[in-house]
Amino acid sequence: MTERTPLIAGNWKMNLDHLQAIALIQKVCWTLNDADFDYNEVEVAVFPPFTDLRSAQTLIDAEKFEVKLGAQDISAHDKGAYTGEISGAMLAKLDVDYVLVGHSERRQYHGEQDDLLNKKVASCFANALTPVICVGETLEELETRGQAAVPVEQTLAALDGHKQLGDFVIAYEPVWAIGTGKVATSDEAEAVANEIREAIRSKHGDIADQIRILYGGSVKAANVAGFLAKDNVDGVLVGGASLESEEFSGICRYKKHIVL
Ligand code: PGA
Repeated sequence: MTERTPLIAGNWKMNLDHLQAIALIQKVCWTLNDADFDYNEVEVAVFPPFTDLRSAQTLIDAEKFEVKLGAQDISAHDKGAYTGEISGAMLAKLDVDYVLVGHSERRQYHGEQDDLLNKKVASCFANALTPVICVGETLEELETRGQAAVPVEQTLAALDGHKQLGDFVIAYEPVWAIGTGKVATSDEAEAVANEIREAIRSKHGDIADQIRILYGGSVKAANVAGFLAKDNVDGVLVGGASLESEEFSGICRYKKHIVL
């Protein structure tokens, strides 16, 4: 069996200015360091707003913190007259490792569709950034098409046609479970993750075994262990609960919550 290092990713969304970002990263890292947290065993990444990235990078570098840095979006363009956009090269210069692509809030409020998201994935690959490709069904899609059809389609659309695939992560986030307190069961998350992995295998081969598939949607310290006990769930994408240092560091230490 392929060993995949679990990834705990904190999506801060449009919360916290750069000073608050520094304070939160310090608290999380101090808590984890005090607990002798092993970052080789579990990878941790935070996704602050763009305006916080430079401060976060400086702090992480100065303190030699082992948390990774992610961005919440990326431009599909390399550079030029695209007011308000942030390029992959700019993110790479700030030591960003991961980029969220196609979060449901981008799809829903900004009309981002599969063809644009495919280009954003290409921008990530061109700049050696790892896209965290977010996929998931709405409540209506769940009722009409079942749970896995839409996430599988969105995954394949994002991966289609690239000359070469770089490293990527898939985050399965049922839209009906985001910020609602409604959580998919760990069995449901496992079943969808398995279908996504098999769809990647049938199109792109054995790379499917190395790819990490995360679950997201109302994840908390109290429910994280159940998801991560599943074979095909390799981490979690955490929204609300990533803004609170105790809760987020509790999620990172999920192994302590697994009741044997
Ligand atoms: P939530 O958000 O944990 O607040 O449900 C998850 C996400 O949107 O990535």
